[in-house]
Amino acid sequence: MTDVAAVRELAERLARQAGAIQRDRYETTLDVRTKSAAIDLVTEVDDACEALIVDTLAVERPDDAILAEEGSGDDRADAAWRWVIDPLDGTVNYAHGYPRFCVSIGVQLDGTGTVGVVYDPLLDELFAATRGEGATCNGRPIRVSEERELSRALLATGFAYDVHQSDEDNLDHFARFAKRARGLRRDGSAALDLCYVAAGRVDGFWELKLHPWDVVAGNLIVDEAGGRTSDLSGRPPTGDGRETVASNGHVHDAMLEMFGR
Ligand code: IPD
Ligand code: CA
Ligand code: CA
Repeated sequence: MTDVAAVRELAERLARQAGAIQRDRYETTLDVRTKSAAIDLVTEVDDACEALIVDTLAVERPDDAILAEEGSGDDRADAAWRWVIDPLDGTVNYAHGYPRFCVSIGVQLDGTGTVGVVYDPLLDELFAATRGEGATCNGRPIRVSEERELSRALLATGFAYDVHQSDEDNLDHFARFAKRARGLRRDGSAALDLCYVAAGRVDGFWELKLHPWDVVAGNLIVDEAGGRTSDLSGRPPTGDGRETVASNGHVHDAMLEMFGR
């Protein structure tokens, strides 16, 4: 097995194992704490999922770098492989018993997104991509939608945890798209939003102030499903997630125009 195939297999196994923790603990009483703001939550399940993934990587991939949202990874600069992990994307949903959350594991090789796996444990949907090999959901190839008109597009977005404090709150863009698109969804998991672009369930997605762990897996899955990813000016994404636009490609320029850059 090549190194890439081994990484993909491990990423899938870890995503399924962490997803099983989420499924087991869903709708149970949780220890919930706040992070950067009163609306920015973390639960013991975020921690348990991250521990499972990081502890396994320490044994099976001791030379690789790890950037994990809750901070337990060693993001060493000298490694060729780097695992970028959101152990539970959709924590506010999870804490409220709203059934939309996932595990997101993106793996970069020399800085390039090479493997992406996103697992939704309730629907038992595993989205995955390896660079150059296409994208799949539960092993079946997926593809972005064919919609060409923004006025007929279903779009998704989200809001950062500083939305109560910051003027850069995405509400201006949200209002403009609400007047242009067929529909807008704010469903609380950026990684699944990206996979839904890849699967043609929504035609486009944008969000500000995301982080690498939200987008490294999902951006690759969109690209490999024939879509386009960029920042708000149309430049290729840097992987930091601060400006994220993803679409079926056809409505991308029309979406970019809405940001008025
Ligand atoms: C959040 C979700 C949400 C997005 C937020 C993210 P978390 O991630 O992806 O959809 O709007 O910006 O921070 O905190 O649940 O891992
Ligand atoms: Ca996240
Ligand atoms: Ca998270």
